[in-house]
Amino acid sequence: METQVAIVGTGLMGVAHTNALRTNGVQIRGILGSSAEKSKKFAEEFKLLKYYRTFEEILADPEINVVHLTTPNYLHFDHAKAALMAGKHVVCEKPLTMTADESRELYFLAKKQKLMTAVNFNVRMYPMVQKARQMLLSGEIGFPYLIQGSYLQDWLLYPSDWNWRINPEIGGNLRTVGDIGSHWIDLVSYVSGLKVKEVFADFKIIHDKRTPNTDNSPKENKEIPISTEDYATVLFRFEHDVPGVMTVSQMCAGHKNEIAYEINASQSSIAWNGAKVDELWVGHRETTNQVIRQDENWAKNGDKDETAAFPETFNELYRRVYEYLAKGDFDLEPDFPSFKDGHYGMLVLDAIEKSAKEKTWVQVSLDDLNR
Ligand SMILES: NC(=O)c1ccc[n+]([C@@H]2O[C@H](COP(=O)([O-])OP(=O)(O)OC[C@H]3O[C@@H](n4cnc5c(N)ncnc54)[C@H](O)[C@@H]3O)[C@@H](O)[C@H]2O)c1
Repeated sequence: METQVAIVGTGLMGVAHTNALRTNGVQIRGILGSSAEKSKKFAEEFKLLKYYRTFEEILADPEINVVHLTTPNYLHFDHAKAALMAGKHVVCEKPLTMTADESRELYFLAKKQKLMTAVNFNVRMYPMVQKARQMLLSGEIGFPYLIQGSYLQDWLLYPSDWNWRINPEIGGNLRTVGDIGSHWIDLVSYVSGLKVKEVFADFKIIHDKRTPNTDNSPKENKEIPISTEDYATVLFRFEHDVPGVMTVSQMCAGHKNEIAYEINASQSSIAWNGAKVDELWVGHRETTNQVIRQDENWAKNGDKDETAAFPETFNELYRRVYEYLAKGDFDLEPDFPSFKDGHYGMLVLDAIEKSAKEKTWVQVSLDDLNR
């Protein structure tokens, strides 16, 4: 059966998935948006065969074997579950679900159904991130002593800024940690090969009320009380008692979309910053520090900051996903993030939420991942 995809969601990520699937020569059959009007418009613009009116229509379409979910977070669980039950493979945006209870159910369901799953942790796919992982896992720079970094943005700086991510019913109880911290946690766990075992979180809601005044604001234009964090610093203990620290905020003027990490290991340090995706800094004690550069013109999109280059990471991620799908053996360990990684991310997020509330260290139980 030829692979045919349905995409759910017509926003920023709906377009990004569409373009990357096309680059990989994957057939997109149809689209579902939040209204028939939006779905029709998207289908016309991208010259898709059809648009759907309901998610059930996708489930009932025998030609569809993969569903891409690019909708706001609260929709991921129900749609992923229904698609897996209907025997369809699922590629889902991050964070995988709203809670770890939901992601656990999806992870075990996918295993039972023997279906392919992927979570769109695209940042893993930068060549210099892959290089860093290889340097860590081969032992070239020694054993990690400290994992540190940040993910900073500025698009929610003003009290008039608004997005569905701010509403916990749509984005989840964690906003900044769920939206961008989830990428950082996945990234450093992937690069270091170490999972988070314990967390201690400090949160701040900087604007405890917002008066949205943007194109996508709620219509009423009134003051809205805010319950999701604008800022977080989280302390970590990774496996082997390796300490870590992450700062995330969407209110740091001048930082558009800047993810960065540094790993200080027993021989050397490495550092990578999304502002210059094609460079990896390597720090030494005895010799001159180095900057390793990706030689080929890897990203075609001008300046190689994270935003300009990210379409390439989607291309690479789906290349791997669809090669894996073509092999057809879903017991094989995938070389891309799956629902197992999505569930791991949610276990860490749940622990962070609890820690911020209780102001104490909280353990992350990783038992599910070995079952
Ligand atoms: N991997 C990444 O780098 C990355 C980047 C941005 C967003 N995301 C994730 O992608 C998802 C979507 O984010 P976005 O920035 O594209 O948001 P967006 O607001 O641009 O798009 C969301 C789309 O979903 C549609 N939608 C809402 N309800 C729907 C429904 N019931 N059925 C069908 N469509 C519906 C909306 O109309 C909208 O077009 C989120 O989970 C987000 O965390 C990931």
